[in-house]
Amino acid sequence: MDTTLTRSTSVAADVIRRGGLVAFPTETVYGLGADVFNADAVARIFEAKMRPADNPLIAHVGDLDQIGRLAETITPSAQKLIDAFFPAPLTIVLPKSDEVPPIATAGLETIGVRMPRHELAREFLKACGTPIVAPSANLSGRPSPTTWQAVEEDLNGRIDCILQGAATEIGLESTVVDCTGDHPVLLRAGAISLEELREIVPETSVYVSAGDEAVRSPGLKHRHYSPRAKVYLKDFPTSGRRAYIGLHEPEGNFAVVKVCRDAAEYAHELFAFFRECDRVGIEAICCETVEESGIGRALMDRLRRASEK
Ligand code: TXA
Ligand code: MG
Repeated sequence: MDTTLTRSTSVAADVIRRGGLVAFPTETVYGLGADVFNADAVARIFEAKMRPADNPLIAHVGDLDQIGRLAETITPSAQKLIDAFFPAPLTIVLPKSDEVPPIATAGLETIGVRMPRHELAREFLKACGTPIVAPSANLSGRPSPTTWQAVEEDLNGRIDCILQGAATEIGLESTVVDCTGDHPVLLRAGAISLEELREIVPETSVYVSAGDEAVRSPGLKHRHYSPRAKVYLKDFPTSGRRAYIGLHEPEGNFAVVKVCRDAAEYAHELFAFFRECDRVGIEAICCETVEESGIGRALMDRLRRASEK
């Protein structure tokens, strides 16, 4: 299959209407989109990414009215978060409507819904005129793509089209909050921080795994965000081809060094850095840890997952 590169949202939306797969930029990472109501197209997302079939997809909307077709009800806590944040790097999990094919939610009775705030993403979603399910546009297990070139690296020849935009602003995936119960539960940390969520709904809690993560968020149990190189958060090795990323100048010699001015820049750079390290044959990536507040919580979550393998 030839993968078309385009900057035109109408060309990309045509591909969606014909049942194709389009990678597109958002403010978090690039997504790999298909029409949520076209079960065959949705099935091809899992094939193209080699994604485990038990990992549900997030549905993206270009306007708030579309949420009504995806969700059976909008719970009061969900409504508060939607009013306060959408469009945002925030995914809200709600009871799913019958119209959504089971494959989109990996058989779950719930669906994650997000309205991106990225200009080109919104123009694309509006042109599609239907909600678009989209996981991150990487091969399963690889770091999420923050540039269209990273999408091409993983999925060229496996998808129909890449909508080319700039590098993504945030660089980590959206915050995921389960709003199906009485109080919101944070499932995945992201740029909308726990502190910000609690300003709107103070009862928001953080999901703690009971050993059976499949129940709440299947994606959490899969290996994620991993470069081929081994990732270290402490006890850095002293030999081998090493790279360093962090907020302070490192001590010692590293083949590749990235010093970021704050946690936001660190988040923005992390996945592209992982990919660069793989390209130049780094064996050990040494990552400075950061304080777990604001975007730092999301950053530490991704760093831990990348180091656990
Ligand atoms: O920023 C993002 O969220 C990007 C862009 C493209 O929007 N998308 C993304 O999708 O990161 P993905 O598929 O790579 O990650 C989705 C996460 C997974 O951990 C998945 O398990 C969880 O959201 N998720 C999706 N639907 C869910 C549901 N119904 N219940 C619980 N967790 C859900
Ligand atoms: Mg992903």
